[in-house]
Amino acid sequence: MLLDIKNIKKTLKNNHVLKGIDLSIEKGEVVAIIGPSGSGKTTLLRNINFLETADSGMMKFRDQQIDMAKPSKEKILWTRRHMAMVFQNYNLFKNKTALENISEGLIFGQNMEKKTAESLAEAALNQVGLIDKKDFYPSQLSGGQQQRIGIARATVLNPDIVLFDEPTSALDPELVGTVLRDMKQLAEKGQTMIVVTHQMSFARNVADRVIFFADGEIIEQGNAEEVFDHPQNDRTRKFLSAIAEDY
Ligand SMILES: Nc1ncnc2c1ncn2[C@@H]1O[C@H](COP(=O)(O)OP(=O)(O)OP(=O)(O)O)[C@@H](O)[C@H]1O
Ligand SMILES: [Mg+2]
Repeated sequence: MLLDIKNIKKTLKNNHVLKGIDLSIEKGEVVAIIGPSGSGKTTLLRNINFLETADSGMMKFRDQQIDMAKPSKEKILWTRRHMAMVFQNYNLFKNKTALENISEGLIFGQNMEKKTAESLAEAALNQVGLIDKKDFYPSQLSGGQQQRIGIARATVLNPDIVLFDEPTSALDPELVGTVLRDMKQLAEKGQTMIVVTHQMSFARNVADRVIFFADGEIIEQGNAEEVFDHPQNDRTRKFLSAIAEDY
């Protein structure tokens, strides 16, 4: 098991957002998390990556055992070195070029030499087909291109796991496909991924496992066929019929 999380709980303003979640991920697995708005999906990813601190929970990641309620600074940095996140709104620095958005994290975060960082950043831009945009600023790029730079930044150090939080939901419909293609390519290369998504076709066609998440809990999980075609739980059935998407 690459990642094994037990009993994450998180309360925000008296609201039990995560109600004791267990989640295990095998190396190479692509896990899609679907579920209603406000159910705690973003909070779950933010707690796994220590952007927020859980109230309780134990994480085993690679060979490290981490108390999620009291992670040491070293363990947080170590986790972020091996686990990357792609955000809904790209989170690129507006005043930095595509190349700098990728290389500066390596220079300042990993103490890498500028030359090395830039050549890694160029390789990552190549991977997403955007090397010709390396000197462009975010405002000069489409949302889809910005998000692909977000993916290049997340994957530049070959992380063990990439967490995606609705990576296509801020995009115009015609740009969604370009980002999904990059994600599919990553999945095919064996990248372990946890993807919170509203793209049911991605969940169905790319994910090895689909988790239906609601009210701070995993309601059910299984392969796409099990969850989409034979949902066991009433809440899952209601959600799937309400989203009225052709999946
Ligand atoms: N900083 C905060 N303070 C208080 N409550 C919060 C905070 N952040 C999130 N919440 C609450 O936690 C719950 C879960 O939010 P979260 O963003 O994790 O949901 P989500 O499943 O990602 O929703 P969406 O699909 O809309 O992105 C919501 O009820 C939200 O109002
Ligand atoms: Mg969210």
